[in-house]
Amino acid sequence: MIKKAVIPAAGWGTRFLPITKSQPKEMMPVVDTPVIQYVVEEAVQSGITDILIVVGRGKRAIEEHFDRNPLLEAALEAKHQFAEIEKLRRISGQAHIYFVWQQEMKGLGDAILCAKDHIGQEPFAVLLGDTILDGFGKPVTRQLMDVYEQYQASVVALEQVPTEKVQRYGIIDGVVLEDGVLQAKDFVEKPSPDAAPSNLAIASRYVFTPAIFDYLERTPKGKNNEVQLTEAMRLMVREQPMYGRRIDGIRYDLGNRLDFIKTNVIFGLRHEEIGPKLREWLKDLMLGL
Ligand code: UTP
Repeated sequence: MIKKAVIPAAGWGTRFLPITKSQPKEMMPVVDTPVIQYVVEEAVQSGITDILIVVGRGKRAIEEHFDRNPLLEAALEAKHQFAEIEKLRRISGQAHIYFVWQQEMKGLGDAILCAKDHIGQEPFAVLLGDTILDGFGKPVTRQLMDVYEQYQASVVALEQVPTEKVQRYGIIDGVVLEDGVLQAKDFVEKPSPDAAPSNLAIASRYVFTPAIFDYLERTPKGKNNEVQLTEAMRLMVREQPMYGRRIDGIRYDLGNRLDFIKTNVIFGLRHEEIGPKLREWLKDLMLGL
């Protein structure tokens, strides 16, 4: 049974400067809710009860978001805003949430290594803190956990991407075992379209056995002294079975400007209160262009 998850959220977010100079990109709003809250909710809906968020300098807002704020709750109570109080309590009461500090931003692999002591000898999930995955009714982390339960080995989420875009992603080289499940042979970081072994990109969610920590420790440091997770996975797949699950769902990557705006429009249109007005406004806007 997988009960623990790690959410790396310590990165610089340089693709989103200047906002990320003082604000964590994981706290960027989608309508009125920070990205990382969607990520925590996905973990909780998947059955995770213990969440470790990896933070670093400038990320205090994440800790505050998941902490109780008795003064704010008292102020809302005085104004009889009980629905708002409920909303706030739900945020802090979802799971046991812990924090660990990444000393230097030395890459995603290094961020996951910071979780080693907390995780111990258990399998665990990893959810990137800047990406929402809509699993069409079944959370994507749960989809991976189901494959883990069947094969008892590490699993990565895969998303089909257009061939001309493969060079933006880590791509799996694998063999199809059953509908939507592949056994991995290798992983290739940012291949050119003609050299790509597939068009299935690694999609921000993983389930790992604790053996990943050994491979991360053995991974030579790459560009900018960073430990790349994909490199550790390449070492691992040579010695242990690993699987990929083509996700039922859509990925919303909030780490870049265009997808941030698009995601806000999509979630805004779906929003009960503002959706209809936004739809009308967008129609008028398009007519005027
Ligand atoms: P990214 O590579 O998208 O994050 O990592 P980044 O380095 O912050 O982004 P840019 O390229 O500078 O814009 C994906 C996730 O891994 C975390 C990030 O916070 C993000 O949620 N991460 C990345 C860490 O926790 N530590 C790191 O050293 C790097």
